Amino acid sequence: MGKPLTVAVVGATGAVGREMLATLHSRKFPATKVRALASSRSAGNGVPFGDGELTVEELKKDSFAGVDLAIFSAGGATSLEFAPHAVAAGCVVVDNSAAWRMDARCPLVVPEVNPGHLSWHQGIIANPNCSTIQMVVVLKPLHDVAKIQRVVVSTYQAVSGTGQKGIEELERQVRDLFHGRDTETRVYPHRIAFNLLPHIDVFLDNDYTKEEMKMVNETVKILDDPSVKVTATCVRVPVFYAHAESVNIRTARKLTAKEARAILVQAPGVQVYDNPQEKMYPMPKDAQGEDETFVGRIREDESEENCLNMWIVADNVRKGAALNAVQIAETLLEKDLLRVRDRNAFLS
Ligand code: A2P
Repeated sequence: MGKPLTVAVVGATGAVGREMLATLHSRKFPATKVRALASSRSAGNGVPFGDGELTVEELKKDSFAGVDLAIFSAGGATSLEFAPHAVAAGCVVVDNSAAWRMDARCPLVVPEVNPGHLSWHQGIIANPNCSTIQMVVVLKPLHDVAKIQRVVVSTYQAVSGTGQKGIEELERQVRDLFHGRDTETRVYPHRIAFNLLPHIDVFLDNDYTKEEMKMVNETVKILDDPSVKVTATCVRVPVFYAHAESVNIRTARKLTAKEARAILVQAPGVQVYDNPQEKMYPMPKDAQGEDETFVGRIREDESEENCLNMWIVADNVRKGAALNAVQIAETLLEKDLLRVRDRNAFLS
């Protein structure tokens, strides 16, 4: 029996927060106490945890006294404001927002890829963007063997990536359109039902979206290799759960499709699902609710030397968010790194 461990989930009423609670329970995370935090709007409501329910508490600056680990999924502004106070109370934070990902003090971790980066954490560990996580889980073992020089990725991202409100928007619009009614657009800039939006997060000065640049910058930070060049096009699709990605890589030495398959079959967290003759390839409907990242359609790019194409699918709410965050917490425990060295590290 280890020492008593109190865990808080911040954003516990959201799509990812609920999945975090479910994941902590299903993976038997050794918490003696789990607390559910959210905004004042939800305080007093119940959220499911195991066979029972937790009562939601309002997130406040002093919420973290006696908390050993907090997993945040309540948006970047909430993380920026409250994570430093959690660390000041001696609580280690695993943050699912983009707020701390590119901060040099914060490791950005996918446990199958760069668990060693946890050793230099100062209290806040960032969980990468959902699309980045599933891509690097597949790319890392190929990079180790053949050195990836360039990645061209196009994503097909589910509405659950926008949280509960994205799910509700697609449901409502589909229902309205089936009933022949006009439908309102509340969450996305255009209708998402029966449509595709090449626009996720805001546009930046270089005409890429922030989501696209997250994939570029986060991949380099996680692989710890600025020589890897990435270009991305991120598209929101009318699918509820699981993101898909078409990925083309160029490697320093040639990798045949057969070799890539053999490497990926051995890779942690990856499942090769690739038999075109049997119409076997990963699809969102199959990846939903699963922990693995699925890869298929692995084939040599006949238009260019040393290039491979592949198709990667994973449940964005699980491996893309809740599961990865809980795996980070598990790895911190395994490595005896669940402690804050400098409580003032993030207080300005
Ligand atoms: P609440 O339900 O009380 O608004 P999603 O990503 O599915 O939209 O969920 C966002 C989560 O973040 C919800 O649990 C939401 O709580 C929480 N949240 C949003 N803003 C705040 C805030 N200012 N303080 C605490 N929790 C917040």
